[in-house]
Amino acid sequence: MDLTALNAIAEKMVEPGKGILAADESSGTIKKRFDAIGVECTETNRRDYRELLFRAEAMKTYISGVILYDETLWQNAADGTPLVELIAAAGSVPGIKVDEGLQPLPGFPNETITVGLDRLAERLTKYYERGARFAKWRAVIDIADGVPTAGAVKANAHALARYAAICQAHQIVPIVEPEVLMDGAHHIDRCDEVTRFVLQTVFQELFEQRVALEGIVLKPNMVVCGKGCGKRASVEEVALRTIAALKATVPSAVPGIAYLSGGQTDEEATAHLDAMNRIGGFPWKMTFSYGRALQAAPQKAWAGRPENVAAAQRAFDHRARMNSLASLGHWEGALEQAA
Ligand code: 13P
Repeated sequence: MDLTALNAIAEKMVEPGKGILAADESSGTIKKRFDAIGVECTETNRRDYRELLFRAEAMKTYISGVILYDETLWQNAADGTPLVELIAAAGSVPGIKVDEGLQPLPGFPNETITVGLDRLAERLTKYYERGARFAKWRAVIDIADGVPTAGAVKANAHALARYAAICQAHQIVPIVEPEVLMDGAHHIDRCDEVTRFVLQTVFQELFEQRVALEGIVLKPNMVVCGKGCGKRASVEEVALRTIAALKATVPSAVPGIAYLSGGQTDEEATAHLDAMNRIGGFPWKMTFSYGRALQAAPQKAWAGRPENVAAAQRAFDHRARMNSLASLGHWEGALEQAA
């Protein structure tokens, strides 16, 4: 393992003013997104949609890396250029989602384990050859009555750590993503408590599996109220509590934090990131690794029509620019209305 090279990639992924586009929806998830805009979920439509994102101006200025789904990594643009080459030509790092989704965790009702470790090493070799320089693995932690349990959190943290160690051995930077879901009616205190427990457990497992923290990027949730909680926390409260939870659990050797949006509205996700960077006082770069909060607007603008490609690219450029400003603590709500 060349840790200097891994660290250089990780630093590039969280370069101030830039962030990561999560475009790694599985075939099932992208079908849901396409259903919502009335687009048939064919391989060509998936390619055309992702190609329009990768050819947008934002790629050169605001997007440090793109997380791809396996299918996309092997696809070519309409003119025959591999999509990975479009991404690299824009100066952005191609990455790949390598987990194989969730399965029920035996003995733990209503809890899941992320699978995909078997043969991961072989898959990484092929992904590297095709141009991927980082990977993503998402562990999912739900909050409900009696959930999460310590056993399920530990199993998921262990899998994340095994994944991260295998990636580093193959010269690929692991994005370590333990997502505490927003689903449910829980209070922000409960999200805070669970997020701290999960991060603490994840870093213990990373340590035991000898993962070099200088060569990872952490992708956590923010500390927010459950969607059904009935009251929203202020932007300031989310920012302060998220920073405090991370400071208590995440070692400063980690180069950067790239948040998931997790069901926040586009503007909430931007405002929260901006507030954290305005407050500052933490040792890591803090940026975005958004899926929905970057893509909802362009998907709506595109609606599967070739004549809407330019409008969709403008919508994507706008969200990417807003989040770029937020990664610097320079965003203002007025910029949204102006657009
Ligand atoms: P969202 O920003 O839509 O949560 O997606 C990010 C991601 O990659 C989740 O795994």
